[in-house]
Amino acid sequence: MKKNIAFGLLLMALGNAVFSQPVTIPIVSQDQAIVLQTDKYQRLNTIYFGKALRNEEEYASISQQFHFNDDNAGFYSNVYTPAGTWNLSEPAIQVTHGDGNKSLELHYVSHETKIIDPNISITRILLKDPNYPFFVTLNYEVWKKENVISQWTEIKHMEKKPVMLEKYASANYYFTDKDFYLTSFQGVYAKEMQPAETKLLQGMRSIDSKLGTRAMLLQSPNFILSFGKTASENDGRVILGQLAWSGNFKLDFEVDSYHNLRFIAGINPYESAYQLQPNQIFRTPEIIFAISDHGTGEASRNLQTWARNYRVLDGKGERLTLLNNWESTYFDFDEHKLTSLFKGAKDLGVDMFLLDDGWFGNKHPRDGDTAGLGDWQENVKKLPHGIGYLIKEAKKEGIKFGIWIEPEMVNPKSELYEKHLDWVIRQPLRPETYFRNQLVLDLSNPTVQDFVFGIVDSLFIKNPELAFIKWDCNAVIYNAYSAYLNKMGLPQTHLYVDYVHGLYKVLSRIREKYPKVPMMLCSGGGGRGDYELLKYFTELWPSDDTDPIERVFIQWDYSYFFPSVVMDNHVTNWGKESLKFKVDVASMGKLGFDIVTSRLTANDMLFAKQAVNNYQSFKDIVWHGDMYRLVNPYVNDFSSLMYVNADKSKAILFNYLINYRQEMGTNERPIILNGLSPTKKYSVKEINLYPGTTSTIPSDKIYTGEFLMKLGINADINLGRTSVVLEIEEVIPKGL
Ligand code: DGJ
Repeated sequence: MKKNIAFGLLLMALGNAVFSQPVTIPIVSQDQAIVLQTDKYQRLNTIYFGKALRNEEEYASISQQFHFNDDNAGFYSNVYTPAGTWNLSEPAIQVTHGDGNKSLELHYVSHETKIIDPNISITRILLKDPNYPFFVTLNYEVWKKENVISQWTEIKHMEKKPVMLEKYASANYYFTDKDFYLTSFQGVYAKEMQPAETKLLQGMRSIDSKLGTRAMLLQSPNFILSFGKTASENDGRVILGQLAWSGNFKLDFEVDSYHNLRFIAGINPYESAYQLQPNQIFRTPEIIFAISDHGTGEASRNLQTWARNYRVLDGKGERLTLLNNWESTYFDFDEHKLTSLFKGAKDLGVDMFLLDDGWFGNKHPRDGDTAGLGDWQENVKKLPHGIGYLIKEAKKEGIKFGIWIEPEMVNPKSELYEKHLDWVIRQPLRPETYFRNQLVLDLSNPTVQDFVFGIVDSLFIKNPELAFIKWDCNAVIYNAYSAYLNKMGLPQTHLYVDYVHGLYKVLSRIREKYPKVPMMLCSGGGGRGDYELLKYFTELWPSDDTDPIERVFIQWDYSYFFPSVVMDNHVTNWGKESLKFKVDVASMGKLGFDIVTSRLTANDMLFAKQAVNNYQSFKDIVWHGDMYRLVNPYVNDFSSLMYVNADKSKAILFNYLINYRQEMGTNERPIILNGLSPTKKYSVKEINLYPGTTSTIPSDKIYTGEFLMKLGINADINLGRTSVVLEIEEVIPKGL
């Protein structure tokens, strides 16, 4: 055994201790278990990823039941596969030590499980290189009831010189089953989250982003893994997961030569080697997933419940309904035009008016998307009395006021660019490449972090009654180069990582000072939506595509991973459907409008007002209830989705005709409901009826939950009734 003088004596002893008995570490939720065990080399391997056992002692016997026992077996199932020594498969971690050596071995040292509360525990496992003072701590946080697990890794060393982390995954799992199916989600602008399911065959399937910012634009870090068969809603073993990281990511799914599945996920190692100083801790992002043996429905509900209860900012709270001016004015507005829209917000009955892009820039006015970004002073021509005046005028109408910013970005035509070229991410010797005529600011630079924090801070200092922020992000990083990192003598490969760390630092400063104000995470569509950013944001903008038919699909796909309380859905002029159809679809989330109300017909306006009023009565169930996807729009002519409140006394069922190709008469078969109490009795009433129409659903009939969940109910969707909303309410017999 080699001695290295930099080792702490105690750690040395621990790191090289001889373990006569294998150490077994079960990481257990209510129904699921990940079991790790040391082998004869003191390496830690995954021996099980499956259903939890009642008798914990039996976890130690699992490995005897698997016979993958030849020389290759260990390198596939290692719990955090190192590079440069015995491993010849894709590594989870790869480093260059301070002395230039590129080999890494990780031995089990110790572990502990901390019970945070009856539902939450964190298991920490310390691994160490026997030849170098190099340490990896694996962290597993478990939310028992929800069967949700989050894993991240902390990397640290006490070598004399910095260590270069070439690859540093968040997690490295090993799944044993016969077949594996992966659903990944791809997108482009206005076509976000398009799913594709494929059987994983031998070799590697990678999903990644190299965009720098708005990481979800093309590929998404969300995935569904299904075991044994394709994913289905109510049965089968599935994992719904996400890498909670707002920059470049990489998810590798590899079917090995035993037909088992290796999964390694983390920050994309592409151009991201990270120089780690002695004693500095590098914490990887979390990989978060829900596991279920009862299909994607249960896994989604668990992930959504987890998100509301433990992750999303104010996940259990209220949201503000709103009228936005983006699509009604674009950049063409002034004080008068805006204040005249306030009345529309009041008439609709929404809580707030949201002023979008175009309110700032003087030397280079923001009259289009080519100028002004970065100059966050009110444009004096458009808003001579400033934002304060608008807030006051909105208040007179009884509504709140929110504002749009895109603080991470700059137009080359701006005073910011003229004054602080070194704050901009750009290759000094290359022509600039633009995405929407703009460039990204260098958030690895603490001065730029101060600037971005200052944008939000000064808005609130000047306007303490500002009620909402829409935080946009419309460009990716081209020509990645940081003048700041260069000045500091730090590697340029820090940029992609430190950009994201810089963003999180700004957001946590904002939240320290302004903990509650609701903020929307926007990205010209679904370029951003992850559970690290949602610690700071109350909601997200899933897509600019508000065509309601498209939206049925987009919202359906987001719903696998996100609760409806974070989904901002606006009614706009996109799409040919009726206003009713649009409002009904937008009601499956946080309802907003982006229309000129004075251009609505009298009946449309009457409908919209009634629908906003109805929304007030059921929004709590949509935001905080359990969601059931009932009829999948991808394989049916119509789609149905319902929400049920906690005590199963009230539910709301949304149904849409989405395919007119064969002039469907009506939905022939009933829609089988879910989530109700079989023994309760329920009335079914159609709501959101358009003025002058009557419902074809009898409102005087009472059904048992059993009937509705076994036989179902026909919503009578047809060409004359393309969108049908049903309110299902418990009927308490008189006298009880
Ligand atoms: C993209 C957003 O998605 C839109 O809603 C709008 O805010 C524009 N940016 C403004 O530039």
